[in-house]
Amino acid sequence: MTVTTPKPAAAEPGPVQKPDLVTFSVDGVELAVPKGTLVIRAAEQAGIQIPRFCDHPLLAPAGACRQCLVEVATPDREGNLRPMPKPQASCTLEATPGMVVKTQVTSPVADKAQQGVMELLLMNHPLDCPVCDKGGECPLQNQAMSNGRADSRFQDVKRRFPKPVTISTQILLDRERCVLCQRCTRFTEEIAGDTFIALQLRGAEQQIGRYDVDVLDGDARGGTAVDRPVGEAYPDTSGQPFSSYYSGNTVQICPVGALTSAAYRFRSRPFDLVSTPGIGEHDACGSAIRVDHRRGVVMRRLSGEDPVVNEEWITDKDRFAFTWQSAPDRVTTPLVRDVAEDGTKGELRPASWAEALEVAANGLSAARTAGGVGVLPGGRLTVEDAYAWSRFARTVLGTNDVDQRARVHSAEEAAFLAHSVAGTGVGVTFGDLEKAPAVLLVGLEAEEEAGVTFLRLRKGAERHGVKVFAVAPYASRGLDRMHGTLLPAAPGTEAEWLDGLRTRLTGGLLPPEAGSALLGPEIEALAQPGSVILVGERLAGSPGAYPAALALAEATGARLAWIPRRAGERGGVEAGLLPNLLPGGRPVTDPAARAEIAAAWGLTGTSIPAEPGLDTTGILDALSVGALGGVLVGGVELADLPDPAHARRALAAAGFVVSLEVRASEATRYADVVLPVAPPVERSGSYWNWEGRVRAFPAALDSSALPDHRVLDVLAAQLGTSLGAATPVEAHLAVAAPGPWTGLRATAPGGEAGEPPVVAPGHAVLASWRLMLDDARGQDGEAFLAGTAKRAVARMSAATAASFDVYDGDTVTLATDRGSVTVPVAVADMVDGVVWVPLASAGCRVHDTLGAVPGDLVRVERSEA
Ligand code: SF4
Ligand code: FES
Repeated sequence: MTVTTPKPAAAEPGPVQKPDLVTFSVDGVELAVPKGTLVIRAAEQAGIQIPRFCDHPLLAPAGACRQCLVEVATPDREGNLRPMPKPQASCTLEATPGMVVKTQVTSPVADKAQQGVMELLLMNHPLDCPVCDKGGECPLQNQAMSNGRADSRFQDVKRRFPKPVTISTQILLDRERCVLCQRCTRFTEEIAGDTFIALQLRGAEQQIGRYDVDVLDGDARGGTAVDRPVGEAYPDTSGQPFSSYYSGNTVQICPVGALTSAAYRFRSRPFDLVSTPGIGEHDACGSAIRVDHRRGVVMRRLSGEDPVVNEEWITDKDRFAFTWQSAPDRVTTPLVRDVAEDGTKGELRPASWAEALEVAANGLSAARTAGGVGVLPGGRLTVEDAYAWSRFARTVLGTNDVDQRARVHSAEEAAFLAHSVAGTGVGVTFGDLEKAPAVLLVGLEAEEEAGVTFLRLRKGAERHGVKVFAVAPYASRGLDRMHGTLLPAAPGTEAEWLDGLRTRLTGGLLPPEAGSALLGPEIEALAQPGSVILVGERLAGSPGAYPAALALAEATGARLAWIPRRAGERGGVEAGLLPNLLPGGRPVTDPAARAEIAAAWGLTGTSIPAEPGLDTTGILDALSVGALGGVLVGGVELADLPDPAHARRALAAAGFVVSLEVRASEATRYADVVLPVAPPVERSGSYWNWEGRVRAFPAALDSSALPDHRVLDVLAAQLGTSLGAATPVEAHLAVAAPGPWTGLRATAPGGEAGEPPVVAPGHAVLASWRLMLDDARGQDGEAFLAGTAKRAVARMSAATAASFDVYDGDTVTLATDRGSVTVPVAVADMVDGVVWVPLASAGCRVHDTLGAVPGDLVRVERSEA
């Protein structure tokens, strides 16, 4: 007898869920819109523009300006149409069945009401459009023309305020221009959670100002007194400075010229600008931006609109930090260092491309013969450049000694990236973060390291109840604003925490010392479908953390995503800029993977090396002992490396150094040949953001500067090889050429949690990460932005501070055998025995000065400085 297993019936398509539609009319046009739609939005669908100031699609309705008044009638119970007694604000009114709306187009009542509101707003508004930054792109100016009276009946003296008020070094406020729409304050409350500006006083006195504890009788906000921005204290106002990484968004959404930025104020007129879309280069979020330029000079950057990534918001760093691309130290011509007959190296001197390419090619050939060439491409590259670097390393230099990680890194991390990130395409998205039951952050301070990710997480927490947890040494302001829960962990104990969470969420019992007392029932949300674990690149410094994160994800079903700090790192992983990886997630040790890449690259007679290469530290070690003959380096700031002094020694000892750079840097000081490359604004390309989403951008400025892929292409040609990356189109096609890898993925990383350091008296464990605004060269030339950076402080618990005999506001010195930094103390609710300082802020360069990395012990002493 044959037994057949019945096949499960094909799933019946379920009934299509129709949105609950409401039918009503606007100016005689019948509309069917989803229930809850605001009249102002529905009218847009009918092509009817109702004038507005306070309305913004991403902010909650406020009804603050009254400019959007319309005439409305609704049916009563018997179906008789009943007009509302007064015009209604269409931005707060939801459409209801049978409603009849008449806008200024068909209703003299609505038109008169709108003209009246406009007249009221213009009563006190100065007539300074010719000198106002908003002139030419001003909703007030435009709507005064379209919906205002031709003349004003107001004869009196206009209201005046001292101007401008410097609410931060970057943001200026001209209060007499303000129409009190509250877009700015609503943005700070609803989106960023930075309530540093507020609507103050009442009636004719009402005005926007810095959050003023005297006026509003509120609590002090913004952390401890020592943790305020660098540029504060303005004599003409009270209240705290506008200390927010998102303050520039208020300038962009202000419908008049009341909020302006110091960087752009009085610099150009909107109608003189040419706008080009771009992608923010300062983090791995891939935020859409708009680059406004005039006669070859970038004048400002604004947020672009991309609902799936950054919506309409960007960080101040993406908005204001762009002059680094045209800094005076730009490398504009190839440079070659002359070498005397006795081997003494001279100064770099300008050279022609032909000469520089010849010297570079000869030097690299010789270095390859003399032990090989290491490749350090840094994390700034577009994915097209990354492919060119990867192919140049494998085919021209014949090496897997390539590593983009100019930061703390580990073999465990490389294995994690090969196993879980490379070749996985778009995984967790920003949208997923907003709807997840819970999100766990490990080794990632979202606001500082991926600013737009923070905004999306905060939106999820505010609007959808996403529960945010962070394994970190202290609860940052960012975590507080996400209503998050701290799982307090000293650096190096992340794996222990993750293992403890896995035990807890899979029904095991935890010993009390494993933090079980801190794990309330809400942690169980992490085991619900759709939860997400976000791991940062800092976990590379915490042994066992990546494997523990993977194990937790596997045990709970949570999805895992890796968020690096630099814009090019996700694409670099994809392109194989790691010693163990080829493009598309192909392991270098897999013969089939190498064969596929060889075929895609049209290699004949050349083979891709089969052994994993040296990582960044290995390359520097090998250079310093002469085991490698030279190095090809680009976009690496030596001060960012875990041991900058070692890196300097290594480059000084290197037989031959070729540097591809936008600007002169420490690396170019050691170079034998410097080949200039184009900054993002002068070339096209694409980044892959942390989601794995392709973020393409065109060149904004005409330029003769060459992108990395072009420079490497001509250098390869000089060495008798072709990279097939001469043009942006060729480079882009080369990225896709290998196709997806369908073979075995690299094995998961192994690794055990390390032993936590024993904290000796007078010492503490160092915790550190980069702040969004710090001493990075990407912010060079932006003095106004620099003034909004947070001061460097040493955070420690009250108990830890007491053990060093210091209190909040005192000064401490952190020291190692290498050096010391002296900073004020900020007492925080954090793990005992740990001291946190910013990694690379003014006056506090941890790697460079202390020669230490997070997890190391540092001496802590009270300072009288
Ligand atoms: Fe509105 Fe601008 Fe005034 Fe803020 S400053 S309330 S955004 S007009
Ligand atoms: Fe409706 Fe302001 S836009 S009240």
